[in-house]
Amino acid sequence: MNRARHFLAVASTSRARWLALLEQTRALARGEAHVPSLRGHNVVTLFLEPSTRTRASFELAARRLGADVVDLSPSSSSLVKGESLLDTARNLEAMGADAIVVRHRVSGTPTRLAPLLRASVVNAGDGTNEHPTQALLDCATILAHKERIEGLRIAIVGDVLHSRVARSDARAFAMLGAHVRLCGPPSLVPEALGALGAEVTHDLDCALEGADVVVALRLQHERQQSGLVTSLRDYRMGWGIDARRWRRTAPGAILMHPGPVHRGVEVDSDLADGPQSVILEQVRWGLFARMAVLADCLDGTPTEA
Ligand code: CP
Repeated sequence: MNRARHFLAVASTSRARWLALLEQTRALARGEAHVPSLRGHNVVTLFLEPSTRTRASFELAARRLGADVVDLSPSSSSLVKGESLLDTARNLEAMGADAIVVRHRVSGTPTRLAPLLRASVVNAGDGTNEHPTQALLDCATILAHKERIEGLRIAIVGDVLHSRVARSDARAFAMLGAHVRLCGPPSLVPEALGALGAEVTHDLDCALEGADVVVALRLQHERQQSGLVTSLRDYRMGWGIDARRWRRTAPGAILMHPGPVHRGVEVDSDLADGPQSVILEQVRWGLFARMAVLADCLDGTPTEA
């Protein structure tokens, strides 16, 4: 029987588990939580798309919990010889992997993998679908600045269509009672995205008006089809966030971005580096969020190799 506990998507996570993970993230950051020990556990990170923040922080998180970590580089693994992802994961499991942290360009890959393995599967970003640990660290970042998420006006701006961060964030923020606005050009923010529990608008000034939190998104050039964006200059003119537009936000508003930031495209440098920016704080919270997730998934005996 598959007894593994996975972490796959905000959409499949109960509010109770989400709140418990959020509380554990915050307690770990405060240094108040008993740090769970994953000594004797093996964590494998398997990133089939590029990453700086997520990959490094999962590795640091696992080490901080006392686990052994293998970071498998796809380009030098037998994946390039045609071995399937499932066979790769099963071989890792045979060596004693207790958790496999997966990033993949195809939406749904971690969810399809999970029931076929004894190890815990943790989604580190799947295609345009979800990036649930980013949403957890984003919730923790907001709570470090605001008393609660319930009732906040949160604008998520930019290339929502291709953004797994936007989907996970919108679901998590809506689950916690925020009013979420999704904003960008009609080609990148279709009305159907309102199904995430958010208001859809194509007017940036309206989206920013009175916003307590603004999440700027990276323009995902690697996922763009031709014609969705006319030019970077046009995109910046219409959807780039600058100091003039920032004046519409609520007093004390914070600026977030999952990274990597295209300065002068999604957001101007003076804002990204200004007092309203919490972009590097998000990165710091990522370590504690990923510690909380790994400890939650692996709270049990190591997998028998
Ligand atoms: N936020 C995020 O997922 O960044 P990386 O792609 O660098 O991991």
